[in-house]
Amino acid sequence: MRNDPRVEAVVPDTVGSYSTFGALAYEEPLNKRFLYGDITTRFVDQIPFAAADHTVLDIGCGTGFVFDHTATRFAALGIRGIGVEPAPGMLDIARAKYQGNPRYTFAAGSFENLPVPDASVDRIVSTLALHWVKSVPVAAVEMRRVLRPQGAADLLMIARDDGARFKRAVVAAQRRHLSFAQIMATAGLVQRLTPKEVVAAFAPFAGGFTVEVRQFDEVVFGTFEQHMAWWLARSSPVIAAVADRAGFMADLRTELSRLGTETGIPFDTSYLWITVRSIGR
Ligand SMILES: C[S@@+](CC[C@H](N)C(=O)[O-])C[C@H]1O[C@@H](n2cnc3c(N)ncnc32)[C@H](O)[C@@H]1O
Repeated sequence: MRNDPRVEAVVPDTVGSYSTFGALAYEEPLNKRFLYGDITTRFVDQIPFAAADHTVLDIGCGTGFVFDHTATRFAALGIRGIGVEPAPGMLDIARAKYQGNPRYTFAAGSFENLPVPDASVDRIVSTLALHWVKSVPVAAVEMRRVLRPQGAADLLMIARDDGARFKRAVVAAQRRHLSFAQIMATAGLVQRLTPKEVVAAFAPFAGGFTVEVRQFDEVVFGTFEQHMAWWLARSSPVIAAVADRAGFMADLRTELSRLGTETGIPFDTSYLWITVRSIGR
């Protein structure tokens, strides 16, 4: 569907919308602490960084969330960080934060086109970026190319059923602002894979590495404002084509309030932890 030029014409540009709208909202403290901010922090905390990880590559690094959170560990272990990010607006913020710090470098690039040499990276990390690629198998080939034979990778991505009820409310609000083709196109932007499909996509690692994919599901309740703080930052491509943003937000508030309980509006998170380990390490 994505190669059909009639559909391409209405597909919002994921990277472009992250660069402008998403980048502005991303550094908001509520985005960093609530729901996917909290899940990302918990994920990063369990990554077993070690002194053997001389070079860590963060793919889809955004504004530098992972490096912000691991700075003390990286300094203690002597780790060098490389952040790769396709959205210039996100990359600029990351670069500005780490300007003058020789431990970190940032480069424009993507899962499909990593600007690093073959077998040059000890550990790959990525948080909530892999589901935005057009093809996970293509991304896996590129990750395998840059990872050293003794390397490791830790990736967090959303799973197939992430935010199922929330998504239905978003679509109900979208119906008043976008055409059917536009809604279908935004839905098609995000990869929604099962653990089994991810393991199959990571076939290039077969032989030298083990690949483990674990799925986690948890319901997180919040107010409309709490949900919007993270959702607008992280899902900006989904509403990139909406002209009347204020009208859309009012309609979304109405739709989401229908889901409300005494504890708040629920979001059914569903995400995957992907762990790649060298058999020889
Ligand atoms: C939800 S943000 C996550 C950013 C950061 N990793 C974090 O956890 O804060 C998703 C990021 O993926 C990036 N992205 C989109 N398509 C990508 C691709 N094909 N390759 C790498 N990154 C991509 C976006 O530009 C955006 O910065």
